[in-house]
Amino acid sequence: MNYKIAPSILACDFSRIGEQIRMINSSNADWLHVDVMDGVFVPNISFGQHIVKTMADLSEKTVDVHLMIVNPEKYIEQFRKAGAEIITVHAEACPHLHRTIQQIHDSGAKAGVAINPHTPVNIVENLIEDLDLVCLMSVNPGFGGQKFIYQTLEKIRTLKEMIVSKNSKALIEIDGGVGLQNMESILKAGADVLVAGSSVFKSENPINTVAKMKSLFSEN
Ligand code: DX5
Ligand code: ZN
Repeated sequence: MNYKIAPSILACDFSRIGEQIRMINSSNADWLHVDVMDGVFVPNISFGQHIVKTMADLSEKTVDVHLMIVNPEKYIEQFRKAGAEIITVHAEACPHLHRTIQQIHDSGAKAGVAINPHTPVNIVENLIEDLDLVCLMSVNPGFGGQKFIYQTLEKIRTLKEMIVSKNSKALIEIDGGVGLQNMESILKAGADVLVAGSSVFKSENPINTVAKMKSLFSEN
């Protein structure tokens, strides 16, 4: 199977953030997943564009910014300038989702749509051809370290069928509660990118954990 691992910096030790990003640089992770939370769309606040810029400047991995904020269209250009290479907005936060996706593309970034656990995947059906990524939340967004919601597996299968039938290039990213213990079923259902926060950063040796996650089901 061909898949990417995206460690989520939310779970890192913030007292040594530079070191933690360098550690991810030296691992065989594919992307660096960065969770931006505003305390309105989700019941938690994380960090804004200045911190994202600091992290992106240090990162040698693709910077994958997940905006869990209301009115994300106001901040697309700022996050792009901060170094975001992929910008994902929540379908639930965008009344004009198609326009927001165009705006992300116009900024020069790849565009993703995230959907909450209760949101059906058909919300992206009429713009799937325009997306680079669909992020299925497998926990309720806002916090790291939660338990994977198993109904997500069915959503992955439905979304995969939609992507194939519409000939879309969108990758399926799974975010929340992902680790060595459940990645096989997630990949078999059709996921392309696995976000891993606690399972990487809270493990004894994060570099080894990423290496294990990468090699477990890869073809080479
Ligand atoms: C949840 C975030 C996730 C989180 C994942 O709102 O979007 O990216 O960091 O953390 P774990 O892997 O610990 O569930
Ligand atoms: Zn996330």
